[in-house]
Amino acid sequence: MGKVFVTRQTPGRALDMLREAGHDVETWPGADAPPPEALAAGLAGADAALTMVVDHVTAAMLDGAKNLRVLANMAVGFDNLNPAEAAKRGIVVTNTPGVLAETTADMAWALLMAASRNVVASDRDTRAGGWTTWSPTAFLGVDVFGATLGIVGLGEIGEAMARRARGFEMRVLYASRTRKPEAEQRLGIEFAILDDVLGAADFVSLHTPLTAETRHLISARELALMKRSAFLINTARGGVVDQDALTAALREGRIAGAALDVTDPEPLPLDNPLYSFPNVVITPHIASASLATRARMAEMAAANIIAVLGGRPPVNPVPQG
Ligand code: DGY
Repeated sequence: MGKVFVTRQTPGRALDMLREAGHDVETWPGADAPPPEALAAGLAGADAALTMVVDHVTAAMLDGAKNLRVLANMAVGFDNLNPAEAAKRGIVVTNTPGVLAETTADMAWALLMAASRNVVASDRDTRAGGWTTWSPTAFLGVDVFGATLGIVGLGEIGEAMARRARGFEMRVLYASRTRKPEAEQRLGIEFAILDDVLGAADFVSLHTPLTAETRHLISARELALMKRSAFLINTARGGVVDQDALTAALREGRIAGAALDVTDPEPLPLDNPLYSFPNVVITPHIASASLATRARMAEMAAANIIAVLGGRPPVNPVPQG
């Protein structure tokens, strides 16, 4: 049986599943990610690795991992795993589709509401003693009900986002690499090119994977197309947004605010200017962080490892081209 390196303590039954399948499990003991040299050492001694989104696997690490057969990410995204380099070395990469879409859309929605109605800024002010009276002008936000939502990337999370918008009687526009007429019918949403989505939306919510094509998809030009009253919500990947351009847009008041569950880099250093804006909400990449979903994600990653080490095809292989 195989040796499995797990880069963090995981919720749920994942580690028991691996042990019950006869594998020898080594878990990185730290609460933080293993530093690059520890990740390299863990991979070097392993037949399989159960990884997290912040474990950045390099070609050099893969060269040192002579026995490695599978990298199972506990995430739907897999840009951290260098899938093309892994493929060259015959290493399978897997992810966790399907299980986290609803949980992630819940969080994107929480961020949208928090940003539009000053939830975080007013909480901070209240704790600091700022609530001295009821004020007709304090913390005025914008209405979500009846507004226009722009979804960028209509995968399973984008769709879950669109479903929630119905309850708020929103107009929903989406931009996506491929047009999806069936989803348009089913969800009552409209396709538009990205520029038009950006120009019409009161809330722009990003749901694309990070690839060479989507890196800095939202840059100075795209931010300039957004309404001055619009908010940007990012639960996808920090790299999809050009953060310097976002900082400039916020500084110049060219958009109303942003809510970011993902940044570039992660964690976002405390001296980053994004922290200085009261109209920016930043959370630490927790969109999939419900107990049930994180347990399911870890168990799915474990199931992929058990399949590959057992000589069977992976359950959730990712494209590695
Ligand atoms: C993912 O799954 O890719 C998220 O970013 C982490 O849950």
